[in-house]
Amino acid sequence: MVDPIVLDKQRYWDSCAQLYDDRIQAITYQQYVTLATHTEAAKASRILELAIGTGTHTLFLTKTLLQRGASLVCTEISQKMLELAKSKFDGEEEFLCIKHNKASFTFDECYLSGSPKISVDDLRKGHDPGDRLVFGCIANNEVLPFPDSHFDCYMAPLSLQLVHSYTAMLAEAYRVTSPGGKVGFSVWGRRECIQIYPLLERVLERHGLGPATKPTKTNYDICLNREEVRRQMTEMGFVNIKMWFQPVNYIFDTFDSFYQTLFG
Ligand SMILES: C[S@@+](CC[C@H](N)C(=O)[O-])C[C@H]1O[C@@H](n2cnc3c(N)ncnc32)[C@H](O)[C@@H]1O
Repeated sequence: MVDPIVLDKQRYWDSCAQLYDDRIQAITYQQYVTLATHTEAAKASRILELAIGTGTHTLFLTKTLLQRGASLVCTEISQKMLELAKSKFDGEEEFLCIKHNKASFTFDECYLSGSPKISVDDLRKGHDPGDRLVFGCIANNEVLPFPDSHFDCYMAPLSLQLVHSYTAMLAEAYRVTSPGGKVGFSVWGRRECIQIYPLLERVLERHGLGPATKPTKTNYDICLNREEVRRQMTEMGFVNIKMWFQPVNYIFDTFDSFYQTLFG
């Protein structure tokens, strides 16, 4: 049975999938390129990318960095997000029109609880050794349906701060990555440097809108507690941990685009 917290998350992210595709994914390229660079995705033979949103970046990665013979497994908790991602790969002009590129997606929710496990070796059966393979499925970052030590590159752009238990997600990242593999996360940074979301919070507050009780967990917690997160990661076995801040600029060319992005 799927955890009610997971079902809640699915409903929430399903409800904003189209808005995310229309307004946000073009902006979050910025952190994505950093992650792909620092996890050395271009050298990897088995990449796992989690919480891909609507797949804009995933398509970019497969078209620019994914090597011949390499596999990219991508996951999402939201079926709507994954459907939008799939539609990008299905387009005639896109990934599939290139020889040796193969993509398949499943929307089976059985993987949400972490088993059965999906193996890249099984996915590659019947394929040419030189094929670039993309496989997408529904999964929860905190309980992954993949065997131990399976990927040499793990990327989680903008989702560690959102999951129910970030330590569970870190532990799973460590488990599924092979020794010597690269693991990368991007998360929200310093609250005082972020302008657009606190603005929304202030508007809600001023007009007495939103929930009476504020959530105790926020998207800024990982950043605020980063030395504790580093300690926890070291304890789990991660080595050579680097953390840094990187500015991300939003592009709002009109008031309408600002309003729709924030208030949509
Ligand atoms: C802020 S978006 C980031 C999307 C994309 N990676 C990007 O960089 O734009 C967060 C994504 O995480 C997904 N998500 C949230 N909780 C998740 C979980 N526990 N497991 C898997 N995906 C999750 C959401 O459906 C959403 O698409």
